[in-house]
This record gives sequence, C-alpha cells and structure tokens, in this order.
Amino acid sequence: MTVEKPTLGIFGAGWVGLVTAACFAELGHEVVVRDVVAKRIDDLNGGRLPFHEPGLAELIERNRERLSFTLDVSELKSGTNLFFACVDTPPTPSGDADLSYIWSVIDDLGDPGEGTLVMKSTVPVGTGAKIRATLDQRGLERVAYVANPEFLSEGRAVEDFLRPDRIVIGSFDDEAGDRVAGLYGGFDAPVVRTSVASAEMIKLAANAFLATRISFINEIANVSEVVGANVDDVAYGMGLDKRIGTTYLNPGIGYGGSCFPKDVSLLKLLAGNSGYHFQLLSAVIEVNDLQKRRVVTKLQQRLGNLRGKKIALLGLAFKPNTDDMREAPSLVLAARLQAEGAEVRAWDPLVTGHPALDGVAVAGSVLDAVRDADAAVIVTEWAELRDLASEEVRDSMRTPLIVDGRNLLDPDAVRAAGFEYEGIGRA
Ligand SMILES: NC(=O)c1ccc[n+]([C@@H]2O[C@H](COP(=O)([O-])OP(=O)(O)OC[C@H]3O[C@@H](n4cnc5c(N)ncnc54)[C@H](O)[C@@H]3O)[C@@H](O)[C@H]2O)c1
Repeated sequence: MTVEKPTLGIFGAGWVGLVTAACFAELGHEVVVRDVVAKRIDDLNGGRLPFHEPGLAELIERNRERLSFTLDVSELKSGTNLFFACVDTPPTPSGDADLSYIWSVIDDLGDPGEGTLVMKSTVPVGTGAKIRATLDQRGLERVAYVANPEFLSEGRAVEDFLRPDRIVIGSFDDEAGDRVAGLYGGFDAPVVRTSVASAEMIKLAANAFLATRISFINEIANVSEVVGANVDDVAYGMGLDKRIGTTYLNPGIGYGGSCFPKDVSLLKLLAGNSGYHFQLLSAVIEVNDLQKRRVVTKLQQRLGNLRGKKIALLGLAFKPNTDDMREAPSLVLAARLQAEGAEVRAWDPLVTGHPALDGVAVAGSVLDAVRDADAAVIVTEWAELRDLASEEVRDSMRTPLIVDGRNLLDPDAVRAAGFEYEGIGRA
C-alpha cells in the first residue's frame, strides 16, 4: 500500500526553506516554495541557487518535478493546507528578534480554512502562544500551530536535515503534533514531543550551549597561552571524557554566522525582558567579541604599529563550505585592522565581496592576497588553506608571518617551512 504524501507549502526560500523543501521533495512530497524576493524566485526557476550549500543544487535538480517556486501566495495556498514558516528572524538594533517576517507570514496566510502552520524559524519563547492567540482572534481556530525548530548547520545542511540527531515537535494539541511527526516517519531519529514553549526553548538553549562551549574553550586557549599549555591537547584530553565530548571545542577567533550571535543575544534578552539576568550568556557574548580582536593584538605584538602594514585575511565566510557572511568574524577583523591603518586584502573561495568590506581588496587567489603582505591571517578554515605554508607563499610575502585564527596548520611544519607562526592557545 502506498501512503499518500501531503503536498507542503514553504514560506521562505532561504537556507532553511530551500533545504526543507528539497529534502521533503526527495522524500516524495510535492512542495511549493514561496518567497517575496522576485530575484530569488527567478533564480530558482532558472535552475540557479541563491547561495552556496553543498549538495542542495543537485537535490533540487533531481526533484525538480516535485518542486515549484513562486511569489504568489495563492499558488502556495491552492495546493496544500500544511505550511512551514522558514522566514528570517534577524536581530533588531536592541538585539531582540525582529518578528516582522513571521507576522507577514501570518497575514499572507490569511484564512486557509482547516490547516497547520509549522514554525521552523527560530523565535523567542512565547511566540507560538502569541501566534495562537492572534489566529484565534481572527477566527482561525481551525488552523493548528506546531513548533518544529530546525537544527541544520550551514555547509552540511542537507545531511543534517536528512539525518538529524532529533526532531523536536511542540504542539498545543496532540493531533496537530502527530500530523507533523508523521512527516518525519521515515527518519531514524528520536522525536521529542513537548509543549510549544519548550520546543522554542530547546532551539535557543541548544545554540546558546554550543556558543558557550566555543567561548569556554577560547578562554581556556587564552589562559593556556599565558601559562604555557597547549589548548589542542587540552581540548582533546577534556573531550575524551564522555561527559564532555570533543565537538565544539575548537579554539579560534570566535563564532559568527546568522544563528549563534543572534540566538545567544535573543535568549539573554528574553530572560532579561522576563526579569531574569542570564549572567553566563553575557560572558559568552563578551568573550566572543574580544576573541576576534585578539588577532589584532597578536599582529601588533609581532609587527608593532599596524599603520601601512599589509594584512591578508584568508577566508571571509563565517565558516567553510558556505558563502554566508552574516556576522562573519572577518568583517570585524577587517574593520579593526583598517581602523589601525592597515591595508587589508582578502581571499575566499566563494565570497568575492561584501558591502561592509569597503576598502578591502578581494584577490582571486591566495597568492595574490599574500603578495608583499606583512602577515597572513587564517580567518576561515577552508581546506584550500591547509597548504598555505608553501615556498611560493613564503617567498611572496614581505614578512612570512602566519596568524592561524583557526589552529588549522601544524605549527612545527609551518615554522620548518620558514614562517613565523602564531596560533590560538598554542604556547
Ligand atoms: N541558516 C541556518 O543555518 C539556520 C539553521 C537553523 C535555524 N535557522 C533559523 O531559520 C530561520 C530562517 O533562516 P535562513 O537562514 O533560512 O534565512 P534566510 O534569510 O536565508 O531566508 C529567509 C527567506 O524568507 C523570505 N521571506 C521573508 N518574508 C517572507 C514571506 N512573508 N513569505 C515568504 N518568504 C518570506 C526572505 O525573502 C528570505 O529569502 C531563522 O529564524 C533562522 O534563525 C537558520
């Protein structure tokens, strides 16, 4: 017996929306994706992805007959009554979540009759309750609301979606939760059924915890530098403890991206707005902010005054395998170096420019970026940079200094190749 797979409607053709759409299409669903940006929809209809995500273009191509992309919300509503909200929830200037796109989804949804709205966007705890109240006020009691936060990680989003560690489903009524849980019936992952508020909190707490691990190991790295320990060994030795684990213990120049900075700040402010001072997260945020700047201090210690010095930033994206520049540490570093009077050049295999990189020359190759440079800074751990310590690079730099912001290279090998080397927490 073949089980009928419901058609799905997705609001938002961004990372989460497109990955959700392509993966459900791969599982046999018809999926209609609606966005409000005409260029995005034109690109998708023309077979072009609006951003880089490994494996996604192939998945969309393979399932093209089950996927459609539209600007028209009525097209979304005509074929289904199961809707996913995958729109952005960026930070406001105060650090709270800007929920205007979420509310635009509720408005655009109008009255779909009987249906279910599934929230995949990351929202403050309490958002689902507010949406439920609004739907009820509008006489839309027959529209169920389910919180189903997404945990994918850019750069490995397709893999994360299809093989998740868990699926979290928060609902006001069991029946709606069952309907959404049924969509994941073929997944080999535990399904966590909770209240809507708990589902919202699971997402924020998970990101805040991962960010806390990163800030923690960065502080251990900074202390290791002054007391003569090697943070790589420390992280490995700590991480083998099953109670700790080795992931998210990589010291570096701090976290960035569209999720961690905003979600940590959101949780801190959510607590504050509710009368609780979440002290730990204040420290996590502060450590992360300062960590990016430590690279500038390291350069000053090696090169003295940075005025007129040529610094090559290698890697611009906030992490490898993506072209996402939201909250990328490279932007802070470039601005700080420019403020010190340095001439900043950059290289990235995917990012060729960004409005906030005014005055930064983005080179087409690593060699062009490091030519005559006083220092090369590894900002993003792209695989291409593993061979950075070559004779060609050394001879083309004015000062063969590598500041390894991601502890990507082997310090002994780099020094043996004739470079000065500075990592993070590597005494
Ligand atoms: N990117 C990630 O790695 C990731 C991972 C997990 C969760 N999230 C969360 O998921 C949400 C989406 O993130 P993203 O990175 O996919 O965002 P994104 O900015 O890449 O995409 C959001 C899309 O929604 C569209 N949009 C806005 N209003 C709309 C409307 N009314 N109808 C249809 N489309 C509309 C925008 O034009 C945009 O294309 C955020 O809340 C984010 O925190 C993101």
